[in-house]
Amino acid sequence: MKITFYGHASLSIEVGGKHIIVDPYISANPNAAHIDIDTLKADYILLTHAHGDHILDVEAIAKRTNAVIVSNAEIAGYYGAKGFQSHPMNHGGSWNFDFGKLKYVNAVHSSSFPDGSYGGNPGGFVIEGEHKNIYIAGDTALTMDMKLIPMRTKLDLAILPIGDNFTMDVEDAIIASDFLDCDKILGYHFDTFGYIEIDHEESIRKFFNKGKDLMLLEIGSSIDL
Ligand code: NI
Ligand code: MN
Repeated sequence: MKITFYGHASLSIEVGGKHIIVDPYISANPNAAHIDIDTLKADYILLTHAHGDHILDVEAIAKRTNAVIVSNAEIAGYYGAKGFQSHPMNHGGSWNFDFGKLKYVNAVHSSSFPDGSYGGNPGGFVIEGEHKNIYIAGDTALTMDMKLIPMRTKLDLAILPIGDNFTMDVEDAIIASDFLDCDKILGYHFDTFGYIEIDHEESIRKFFNKGKDLMLLEIGSSIDL
């Protein structure tokens, strides 16, 4: 499994020979100006919720790649009505895709489209694939529901928002990693806007002091699991 960070909460995941894009917000992110969305491969696009900083480039990527948009029923329906391929899910449900097993899990946040359309309730994803399991939290507060995830899935990596203001901060993300029983964390949802700027070294040190590994990737760089 290869995970590439495209800035903010945007990721690419290569798993089971498939390419998955998560929450693409790239073309308007000045920090990601070197990433060309027309070069991104996508068999699937996973959307945690409908906020503009998670869906901006969905239609451009889906139109070019014919990717299947996977999200909650309301978001899948929104794109389905526009003629895109979609797969609706809801909280607690899993589906066996050709890249692995995907579960849509709880997040504490909100989820309306920029045009005011109803975006259902926000979520995160657990991907079980190629003997490696990851959790993508989406935008969320720290929540006790995170304790449910390791009851079913032994995680190899948790991708957590750490920018504060709209989501968890670093301190809450450390508690989240305890709840998730996963000490390997990829941080996201930081630095894009003034509200969510973080001190990278201090954040990494705080995790390190608890015996945990916080990774912060340069935009466009990858990790292999
Ligand atoms: Ni959001
Ligand atoms: Mn967001």
